[in-house]
Amino acid sequence: MHLAFDMSFTHTDGRWRLPGGWAGRTFPDLKMYAEMALIAERARLDMLFFGDGTGIPDTWQGSPDGAVRWGVGWPRQDMSPYIAALAQLTTGLGFGLTYSSTFMHPFYVARLLTSLNHISDGRIAFNVVASSRRADAANYGYDELMAHDQRYTRMNEFMDVCLGLWRSVTPEAIVMDPETGQFADPKQVHQLHHHGEHFDVRGPLSAAPADVVRPVLVQAGASPEGIAASAHFADLVFAQGGSIAAHVQHRAALDAELTRQGRRPDEVGVMWSKDVIVAETEEVAQHRRSQLLDIWTPEMVAVQLSNGAGFDLATLPDRFPLGEIGERIAKATGSKSGHFNRLIAEYGVDHVMTKDELFEEGRDRISGYSGVMAGTPEAIADHLEEAFEATGSNGGFMLSSHGAMPRALADIADLLVPELQRRGLFRREYEGSTLAENLLGKHMRDIENTTLVGREVGV
Ligand SMILES: Cc1cc2nc3c(=O)[nH]c(=O)nc-3n(C[C@H](O)[C@H](O)[C@H](O)COP(=O)(O)O)c2cc1C
Repeated sequence: MHLAFDMSFTHTDGRWRLPGGWAGRTFPDLKMYAEMALIAERARLDMLFFGDGTGIPDTWQGSPDGAVRWGVGWPRQDMSPYIAALAQLTTGLGFGLTYSSTFMHPFYVARLLTSLNHISDGRIAFNVVASSRRADAANYGYDELMAHDQRYTRMNEFMDVCLGLWRSVTPEAIVMDPETGQFADPKQVHQLHHHGEHFDVRGPLSAAPADVVRPVLVQAGASPEGIAASAHFADLVFAQGGSIAAHVQHRAALDAELTRQGRRPDEVGVMWSKDVIVAETEEVAQHRRSQLLDIWTPEMVAVQLSNGAGFDLATLPDRFPLGEIGERIAKATGSKSGHFNRLIAEYGVDHVMTKDELFEEGRDRISGYSGVMAGTPEAIADHLEEAFEATGSNGGFMLSSHGAMPRALADIADLLVPELQRRGLFRREYEGSTLAENLLGKHMRDIENTTLVGREVGV
């Protein structure tokens, strides 16, 4: 079983004022992240994961004011320099970094990630996201978000370019022969000549090749297009939490698509997102769970729900059938996944909700109160073990916590991890030194040589 910890929102959405949080240190102090990285490495977690989005949530009332006032989803740093620093403090822990294929350029991203792979000795994962928010798009010159299927077409092309660039200079290219003075072998350096719908990139990559060739590639999109993109290039999939039955369904859809694209389903693990609060006793865990509600003001809820839906909930009538709102949201975002679609799945399209009910239900969910697994290490390990086995024991969990940091992570490290180790489900030592070895169980060079042979990707 593999375990990562999601740091995407550990400092936002009011968590900074939960009891048990940092005293005297605040975001974006590097020391705060250093402490988290050391805790994660002590627990032998596979990686710390940093999600990203670049816009301030501004859907609620068409303004960023609410998000700014309460620190909802804002502020967020570019985590690449942080990762460079954290890599110097650790030797086995991996780092997952997120960039959007809709807004970034593949040459820039491929070069940056190769540099980070040098700095971290091969401990980088790239979480490729299509982005689904207009607030992000507005920072990159778009009035409207690109259509959903276009974003995925672009993602696939973006990754073809990145893979081509990572393979355009082989690790054997650098010869540095002191006798002749020859630096590199031109035969090991190739131009790419990529001309596609979205990008024209000649190559080769201008960075020195990393021993691990490329980062571990992760993708989380769950629509049919998202799953097809995962099958196209991902080493690993991130997937939403939810019921074990939903995991089994998701895994089956991914397996079918992998097979359709000529890949073996066992090549691609899934890390299921699980929000947890672990404590020594059930009573303490439930007490900490109830504290999550205390920090959410009504405007924070409105900002967060509208942002998640990509739809200004201030415009809702007092009562509405869920299906009608679901359709408006799908039109606004092009996506059929997310919070409202989960509500529709649970209550049905004809269910009529009031605005107050929606906000109350929403507060319970987004605060983590209703979705979090709060309990003893034994109870949480039972659930993880069951979900892991039901989905083919391939991958693991992207743990997150709405709880106070760093205590919530320290509780995972000191209570949950030892319980999983006792059950023989989780490592006691890192198996290798690179992220591919630890997370995927193979050298990246072997993955490159075997799993992608015969596929028309890159050079
Ligand atoms: C564990 C996890 C992490 C994610 N991290 C990000 C992120 O950092 N940035 C982002 O824009 N989207 C993130 N997403 C959202 C997905 O990339 C994707 O846009 C979403 O699941 C909708 O995909 P779909 O339109 O294919 O259904 C994440 C999803 C999951 C499950």
